[in-house]
Amino acid sequence: MSYLELSGLQKRYGSAVAVDDVSLSVAKGEAVALLGPSGCGKTTTLRMLAGLIEPNQGMIRVDGSEITRLPAHKRNMGYVFQSYALFPHMSVARNVAFGLEERGRPKAEIARQVEEALAMVRLEGLAQRRPRELSGGQQQRVALARALVIHPSVLLLDESLSNLDAKLRDTMRHEIRSIQRSLGITTLFVTHDQVEALTMCDRIAVMHRGRIAQIGSPEDIYERPATRFVAEFVGRANALPAERGSDGRVTLWGAAQPVTAPVEQAFDIFVRPQRMRILPLSEPAGDATARVTGKVLRNVFVGDHVEVLVEGAGGQLTVEMASGSPVPPEGSEVAVVWRAQDSLPFAREAA
Ligand SMILES: Nc1ncnc2c1ncn2[C@@H]1O[C@H](COP(=O)(O)OP(=O)(O)OP(=O)(O)O)[C@@H](O)[C@H]1O
Ligand SMILES: [Mg+2]
Repeated sequence: MSYLELSGLQKRYGSAVAVDDVSLSVAKGEAVALLGPSGCGKTTTLRMLAGLIEPNQGMIRVDGSEITRLPAHKRNMGYVFQSYALFPHMSVARNVAFGLEERGRPKAEIARQVEEALAMVRLEGLAQRRPRELSGGQQQRVALARALVIHPSVLLLDESLSNLDAKLRDTMRHEIRSIQRSLGITTLFVTHDQVEALTMCDRIAVMHRGRIAQIGSPEDIYERPATRFVAEFVGRANALPAERGSDGRVTLWGAAQPVTAPVEQAFDIFVRPQRMRILPLSEPAGDATARVTGKVLRNVFVGDHVEVLVEGAGGQLTVEMASGSPVPPEGSEVAVVWRAQDSLPFAREAA
């Protein structure tokens, strides 16, 4: 069923391993984000797919055919570089035509395809401009049109929105996603921005140190992070150090909890800030509810929500409340509660 298949891909530079044993199956028409911090191997993975660098090990297949050692120009992949990499001395139209000219297509066909591609990214009137006469967002669209015009079997996008301001990035996210969907084009989208990954893709592959730490739907990744790294990297989380008594009972911040964690070694309980609620100290918590107490240090208004910073016996945590709900006064003693199932246990990393 899978259209694009990477198996056991590895890339070494000397003794350093940039990409280590990456395997991934992408269905036809699916958009998958490679999400991870700087240096985790995202661009290296993409460049191996595009045929710009050769893997030391592993295999790449598209539509059943192996292309691992095929030269870049025979792969039919559309690549949008992080820097756009437009040719500065050529017009927009020539930039977009480049891949078709390289493939020796007839002039009339090229003109028609270029026109179509420019219409798709809504740049019809700007065909004769030079890249330097365009805004960042317009340049981004040219780069996208140039990748789409060859009707690629796979579209590869490398951090292509990171140079745009927040508003434009948001617009482009929706535009690229809707073009990707309407063309049904199989896409790998590299980003270190979790919002981008969560909003633009069907599935996310979280990368860490050259490997895929977890792959799943945006909801899987966010609600059921498989590793401590994923829980920390995607979304925000409070990490509460857990103590386990001789009877196996778990305490957080000195208070007994309804948590039965299957973790043997030292561990922390991760809880998303928006899964926590604040109650008056006098209000009892239910049986299946975790509860710690502390003092409100600060309330920070962040537009659509308020962040309440609470300090207790085991450190600090942040509770996210909807704006407009009554916030506890700074300095007051409160209880912080959450459903036991929202506690995610992860082994503590060796220092
Ligand atoms: N040509 C090279 N020679 C040696 N090391 C390299 C080379 N290219 C990349 N690396 C190393 O491989 C690792 C992965 O690099 P890569 O460019 O794939 O990271 P990335 O995930 O794209 O990061 P970023 O988010 O910063 O773009 C890094 O440690 C990098 O320093
Ligand atoms: Mg990169």
